[in-house]
Amino acid sequence: MPVKLPIALADYLPVSKHCLLKMYGEITFDLYTIPPGKQHYREPVLLVHRNSMLANVRGVIAESGFENFYIRKEDQKNFHHLIENYIGMLIDDPLIPLQEKSNIIYNCAANVMKDIFSDPRSGDNLKRTENITGNIINFALSDQASIPSLLELSSHDYYTFTHCLNVAVFSIGLWQAIYPDWQQHLRDFALGCILHDIGKSRIDDAILNKPGKLTADEFAVMKKHPQYGYKLMLGAVPAISLDVILHHHEKHDGKGYPRGLQGDRISDFAKIAAIADVYDALTTRRSYADARDPFKAVLTMKEEMVGHFEQDKFISFIYLLSGKMLSPPTDQKQA
Ligand SMILES: [Fe+2]
Repeated sequence: MPVKLPIALADYLPVSKHCLLKMYGEITFDLYTIPPGKQHYREPVLLVHRNSMLANVRGVIAESGFENFYIRKEDQKNFHHLIENYIGMLIDDPLIPLQEKSNIIYNCAANVMKDIFSDPRSGDNLKRTENITGNIINFALSDQASIPSLLELSSHDYYTFTHCLNVAVFSIGLWQAIYPDWQQHLRDFALGCILHDIGKSRIDDAILNKPGKLTADEFAVMKKHPQYGYKLMLGAVPAISLDVILHHHEKHDGKGYPRGLQGDRISDFAKIAAIADVYDALTTRRSYADARDPFKAVLTMKEEMVGHFEQDKFISFIYLLSGKMLSPPTDQKQA
């Protein structure tokens, strides 16, 4: 549940004491607090100036009785960028509640995705994407409740960068449900999922954000995004990731694009990403369509997209959504 703040705090975001105490080095944001017993204060007061060394102020944060810390909203990006380096430690800390871990991971990941979409050729952005993907996987493996908790945070409005993140989270969940003992390629697969629409960074905003249906010509341009993504990432990410980027719009019946691959010619990686991709698109609000609720989205996929998805994986996905994990078919266990 989001924290409900008084109006006067609308310009601030609460940040966790746990997070602050995990970080080292120089802080890149001003840190505010509401001192104990001063809950009537209309605004938080400045506690630590940006550019302070955390080593010098850790004692103040830890021991002075302050519990409520805030940053200004405009510093959110700086905060999440800095904390990216410490997510591994946060995940491992049993004292930090799951919801708080989810919040940090989701917000950091969204921040990273924004950056890689604005500059997909940057080696630093790709490294950060690999790092956050690894952390999402570690988090997912650390606790069964992690995936649902991350998904609760997903925006109901469609943005390409959060869509990519949601598809990665759904795909990791579905992978774990189908192949619980097969983690060998999970990292490369998840990286492909989080980057699956990276080719859209090469599509004109006028087409990408057009309110309303695309014309046939515009749709033809839009359909090039898997190849654009493949070219952008060729040589920079592993073959499995490239496979997901290039083939996430292939359909089981061969009517997808860009290659019209059919059935087993589509990899299990791309098949899983395709299910997660369509489901997330249907359950988020678009300029031309309301978000469907989960039940209606699954019904649409079942009844209006006949032949698009491999049946066994689609059924596993329905079980994943309903929280009833059943054993996957035996032939999939050995894939
Ligand atoms: Fe796509």
